[in-house]
Amino acid sequence: METRSILEADKLTKRYEDGVLALNGVSFSVRQGEIYAMLGANGAGKTTAINCFLNFIEPSSGEARVDGIVTHRDSLEARKRVAYVSENVMLYPNFTALQNLDYFARLGGKTDYTQDDYAAALNRVGLPAEVHRKRLRGFSKGMRQKCGIAIAILKDAPAILLDEPTSGLDPQAAFEFQGLLGDLRSEGKAILMSTHDIFRAKETADTVGIMKNGELVMQRSSADLAGENLEKLYMTYMAGHSN
Ligand SMILES: Nc1ncnc2c1ncn2[C@@H]1O[C@H](COP(=O)(O)OP(=O)(O)OP(=O)(O)O)[C@@H](O)[C@H]1O
Ligand SMILES: [Mg+2]
Repeated sequence: METRSILEADKLTKRYEDGVLALNGVSFSVRQGEIYAMLGANGAGKTTAINCFLNFIEPSSGEARVDGIVTHRDSLEARKRVAYVSENVMLYPNFTALQNLDYFARLGGKTDYTQDDYAAALNRVGLPAEVHRKRLRGFSKGMRQKCGIAIAILKDAPAILLDEPTSGLDPQAAFEFQGLLGDLRSEGKAILMSTHDIFRAKETADTVGIMKNGELVMQRSSADLAGENLEKLYMTYMAGHSN
């Protein structure tokens, strides 16, 4: 089956107001049913790239497209097509997990979900029934992250953006999260995530990109990486090897 390219960065360039060149002509794409993992040092430009897809920031030149829609030209339409989980998920501390799901689902225009659907989504991300009616205030970082992932799943958008999704998860949760990503891939989602977890990136992703100083210095398919030590390769790129 011919798959469509859902997320496209096209010579994406961002110079922040203070002069920092965070992205310098970055181009890549993520197709339906593909997981793209973006690695790179702190400050390499990963979050900036993700934020361009959400139109949280406008590129200085080039463009980010979601399902063909240029994000800075039609941000409302583009945002309908992406679900997003940030490193520090912003949820309502005084709402329960179920209430947060209901609130954000409605905000995203989904009005036909039942309480059972919400409970199923929470179970799916590994939040057990006994915490469904607890306020978010008492949740650990990883539990909030799982709640954010449940919200992203319920949005049922063709693209999912994840900024360091496993940073707050314990090893078991990270393992389960990997399985969840695999399921979402099978459902045809285009998934872009930034991560510092080289091991999981190699395990999970169909394509791995390495960002350095605002540039995409490496991009390889999982087939290309099969016999490679990705950690070693990463270090080589960090040490200045280019191409
Ligand atoms: N709002 C901003 N204003 C000015 N500079 C910024 C802003 N946001 C990020 N930067 C700069 O842009 C560069 C890229 O930052 P970005 O947050 O995209 O990196 P990152 O790859 O996500 O890093 P990390 O792995 O630490 O999350 C850095 O030099 C950073 O200092
Ligand atoms: Mg970041």
